[in-house]
Amino acid sequence: MTTTVEECTDPVALSLWHPVVAVAELNPQEIQTTLLLGYQISYGLRNDGSLGAARQDQPRVELPVRSRYGYLWVCLGEPRGDVFDIPEAEEADRRTLNAASIMVNTSAPRAVENFLDMGHFPFVHGGFLGVEPHTEVVDYEVTIENSEVWARQCLFYQPQAAASASGGQISEYTYRVPHPYCVMLTKSSPTDPSRQDVIGLFIQVMTQERIRAHNFLSVLDEDSSDTVLKRFQQIIFSQDKPILENQYPKLLPLDPRVEVPIRADKSAIAYRRWLSELGLTYSVIPGDQNSTGQATTGQRSL
Ligand SMILES: [Fe+2]
Repeated sequence: MTTTVEECTDPVALSLWHPVVAVAELNPQEIQTTLLLGYQISYGLRNDGSLGAARQDQPRVELPVRSRYGYLWVCLGEPRGDVFDIPEAEEADRRTLNAASIMVNTSAPRAVENFLDMGHFPFVHGGFLGVEPHTEVVDYEVTIENSEVWARQCLFYQPQAAASASGGQISEYTYRVPHPYCVMLTKSSPTDPSRQDVIGLFIQVMTQERIRAHNFLSVLDEDSSDTVLKRFQQIIFSQDKPILENQYPKLLPLDPRVEVPIRADKSAIAYRRWLSELGLTYSVIPGDQNSTGQATTGQRSL
């Protein structure tokens, strides 16, 4: 097993854009440091408003950076394309903010899978995102589209689906995994059911077993203060954190024989297979080619 401070050599992970900080939380000229894929990096906001980042062992080499959706994104290698698109976030009447950036002792794929899992709502988020005896995860659709994992028609009874919700409702979620370490969902907005709120978990992979989860929010809510919006997300995530930190192994096994899936894990099965097909090795326990083939067969039987 690799140690948690080993520098990443996985070309797939190195070519990704990684979220590092909410730009609104940066002070001009203040240099901050963090870990990204096991590398110590420095980053900051210049006086002219531009962003910069560099590895601490190569301070003169500027890393590729982007500013999107309120975050600084950094690539440690040669980026393939741009940061993924979030069409909803371009709409002018939305509140788009970082609800929290929270350190968790787990791997990024474990956090992505937890985010995809509705089955834990009544047990971990009782009174908010679920409540007993409404525990059933009804069947939903999972597809791979444009090299992303999508799960649609995910229905669940929620006593308080959002900070602005005033009573229980059946929520319909659409999940999207556009990046191995980023996941988001859209759900109908309590204030305008014809439109969608977006909640994302953009994960900074500090090491294979330690992350900083940036909780992206883009919602239709004219009434709640930033503090109320953030607090709701922080309560939800504080309920997930101990669950995540107690999962073993921390790295996500991609061999489908290692953890036996149930129907509610359909999106997780697709996610694991997708990671295998991408050839990702950082933060996972790779399966072999044969076992990937078996995953394909298993998925069809669900
Ligand atoms: Fe959760």
